[in-house]
Amino acid sequence: MFFGVVPMGRGSGFGKVILFGEHFVVHGVPGIVSAIDSTTDAEVKKIGEGITVRDERKGARGYTEKKRAQQKESIERMLKTMGIDPEKASLEIWLGGNLPSFSGIGASAASSVAIARAIAEEFEMVLSDEKINEIAYEAEKAYAGTPSGIDNTAATYGGLIWFKRNLSGGPNTIEKLSIREPVEIVIGNTGIVADTKEMVAGVAERRKRNPEKYNPLFKQAEDLAFTARKALKEFDLRKVGELMNENHRLLQEIEVSCKELDYLVNLAREQGAFGAKLTGGGGGGCMVALTPRRELQEAVATAMEKEGFRVLRTKIGIQKY
Ligand code: PMV
Repeated sequence: MFFGVVPMGRGSGFGKVILFGEHFVVHGVPGIVSAIDSTTDAEVKKIGEGITVRDERKGARGYTEKKRAQQKESIERMLKTMGIDPEKASLEIWLGGNLPSFSGIGASAASSVAIARAIAEEFEMVLSDEKINEIAYEAEKAYAGTPSGIDNTAATYGGLIWFKRNLSGGPNTIEKLSIREPVEIVIGNTGIVADTKEMVAGVAERRKRNPEKYNPLFKQAEDLAFTARKALKEFDLRKVGELMNENHRLLQEIEVSCKELDYLVNLAREQGAFGAKLTGGGGGGCMVALTPRRELQEAVATAMEKEGFRVLRTKIGIQKY
């Protein structure tokens, strides 16, 4: 008789931080995203009855409860895209890894990429990164409604990426950017679990109602992305920081910030951050501060922790993970 370990599929996806262009990117404006050195890991076994998810990600409690229905829908979407009938599938899915499940750092996309890779391995499918990215994009629709694809792209490929959504349904522009050396950042979490889907829908609705106000802001966001790309290439970190501040102002104008995000952004700037902005969907979730060198990173992170906020100390532009 065989008493071996039940075989399983494994996979991982990177967390990310959007440096420029969240929300605008949904509407075809280019954005810049960096993966961070934390991942969500998944294990999948073809056992049990139906589909069960054991979520052991850090900080997952409130997040998982709020997102449970979306998570279920996203897994079903993923299975269908992979040619597996979710009604008939018996799967045990485990989620873990060192990426905390805060809103705004791509936790949903990282988990979709991790699960897609683990399912592929468990079902002995050989899938390219491009295919994994496509599957994760389908899964992201459950969380974001009409996602741009920026999150799953960063979660799949890692690195620093210039991303532009193709609004006609063709392939998106995905370009790897290089930076002279990785730069320290602090990600501060408001502790509020935000609903990306509602935030994305809200922007689309307000833009439709008020194009006179919104269209110029979208143009500014586009110009800003190009200027930021140049500043990153030249490693002009003061300029990158200023542009992040400018990006935050645009995000405030399209009404996706909130008082807790503004508070953390100001706190980071007071502590000497080169720039700070909300990151991701907003309405809660996270902000990011550019804090080159460990001492500055520590000063900003500690100031936030003293106020009771949870933070992540990490870097942008890491090429190897
Ligand atoms: O909050 P997150 O990590 O899911 O990021 C959402 C980013 C948006 O630009 C608001 C939506 C998208 O699909 O690009």
